[in-house]
This record gives sequence, structure tokens and C-alpha cells, in this order.
Amino acid sequence: MERTRIILDVDTGVDDALAILYALRSPGLDVLGITTCFGNVDVDRATRNTLAVVELCGLDVPVYRGAERPILREWTGPVPWIHGEDGLGNTALPAPRRRAESQEAASFLREAIRRHPGEVALVPVARLTNVARAFLFDPELPRLVRGVVFMGGAAFCPGNVTAVAEANVWGDPEAAEIVLQSGAPLTMVGLDVTMRARLEAHELDRLNPALPHAALVRDAVSFYMNAYEETQGVRGRWCPLHDPLAVAVAEDPTLCTTRPYPVRISCDGATAGMTVVDARPHADKEPNVAVCVDVDVDRFLGRFRERLGMS
Ligand code: BDR
Ligand code: CA
Repeated sequence: MERTRIILDVDTGVDDALAILYALRSPGLDVLGITTCFGNVDVDRATRNTLAVVELCGLDVPVYRGAERPILREWTGPVPWIHGEDGLGNTALPAPRRRAESQEAASFLREAIRRHPGEVALVPVARLTNVARAFLFDPELPRLVRGVVFMGGAAFCPGNVTAVAEANVWGDPEAAEIVLQSGAPLTMVGLDVTMRARLEAHELDRLNPALPHAALVRDAVSFYMNAYEETQGVRGRWCPLHDPLAVAVAEDPTLCTTRPYPVRISCDGATAGMTVVDARPHADKEPNVAVCVDVDVDRFLGRFRERLGMS
């Protein structure tokens, strides 16, 4: 089977950890490296968590430390009420033995894309800061990538940080706008579909306890489900699988239905971080984003169980 070369960009984070596990355990994906960014936690914590999760898989995929703050703004800080003080639901995962590579994330992105022109799909599931920095650094990259499948935005549904803004876009709107207007082939896996990709608490009982990641997944996801119930207005014991869905779509685009739209990012005022989707029949701009508008939840959850080792 031909494997899709991807680079995952993360701010690990509970659902980022699930996305890393999904990607590393997917037969259809060849993960060239993982880049890290501030967001759910600071970039050093994101890097450490990423290395620790990769180590749990018994793999030595290289990890590259990236941006510690947005392109133009100050970082507003971590979100321990969603992801825990340690970013992994206070599971106190042992410190990783390996360290991050010395190369900086944006520089690695550039090198890897240029080494495999037309072949590398970027899968950012964090702020788009690293990708934007790479594109600013080397403006030819957008036409050399296979695509950018990003978790972020809210096209036709409410936001999760403000009424209209989703966290990954809100956290660095200028970076998101740079990536969206770059000309790269873009797929937006936003809240429209990720809020429908629900993992229910009873599913955790299906995890094979012999797997090295089983305890982390069970405990971190339990914390995350509590957080969603207590702070996000979710009723019942479930959590959305935001970041794993983006990885799943990078491996198998048929899991979501997309529609092409012109999309821009609002960078100011009450709408900062909003993905402004022009759904008019006679929009005055060409579409720049394939927006995911529907998801085959059953097929995705089946994949998720398979990848994570749930019976
Ligand atoms: C996104 O924000 C982060 O908290 C999650 O990891 C996910 O990438 C959801 O809005
Ligand atoms: Ca994330």
C-alpha cells in the first residue's frame, strides 16, 4: 500500500496525543516528523509530551520544537482546565528519554517539503504558526506541498473560544490568514465535523489493557471528558475527537464530505479568529479551502478503535 507522507504539527494536549497515536499506528501514513507549537500548553511542555507519547509507541520519529508565541501577538497562556496542568490530563507520564532535534520546526518543514516535492501533506492540529513561518521563510512551499489538512475553524457552527472563533485559529489568526491565502491546497477539518466525532466514555472499556498507551488514553481522556462536561457545556460523558479526525482525513479523505469555499480569517475585534466562509452562490473570490461539512462518524470511529487498539 502506498503510504502518504505527513508531518504532524501539535500542541500536545490530550486530543493531540490521540492524534499522534492514530498517526503512528496508521498503515497508510508515513510520519516524517512531528513539529510542536505553543497552544494547549507552552512549546516546551508540548515538545516533552510529544516525545513521551512517541516513546510509548516504541518509535523514534523525530520531534522538532517550534513557535513559542503567535506571529504578531502575545500568547494568552495554557488551558489547564481543558488539558490539565501537564497537558495530558494530569497523568504524570514519565519524562521522555529522547530529546527534540536541534533543527527548528519551520526549518524542518521547509527541508522535508523540498526533499519530497508534491508529496508531503502537512497536518497541523495546533495554531498555524509553524506552517505560516515556513511559508513566509520560503514562499515556494505552498505549491510544493501535497496539501495542508488542518484542524481548525468553525464554518457554519459556533466557535469554542468565542462565539465565532475556534481555538487553533483564534490563537494565531494572522498565521491562519497567511496559510489560508498561501495558495496551498487546503482542507479545513473544523468544529462543524469534529464536534460530531464523539468518543463516549464506555468506549474506553474497549481499550486493550496490554497496550503501552492504554493507561494514558484511559486516564487522559477521562480528564478531558470531565473538562468538556464542566467547562464546554457538553451533556453526558463524551468528548470530541478534534485532532484525530484531521489525521484520519489526511489518511482517508473519504471520511468527510468537503465543499470548496473562499475563506478568510478575521483578525480584529469581536470576530477575531473567525473563519469567514463565503457561502454565497456568486461569491466574488475563487474557493481556497475544501471545507469539511459532513463526517461519516461510524466509519471514523471504527478506524479510531482499530488504530488505538480498542476491541
Ligand atoms: C483544538 O484546540 C485544541 O485545544 C485542541 O487540541 C484542538 O486542536 C480544538 O479547538
Ligand atoms: Ca491540538
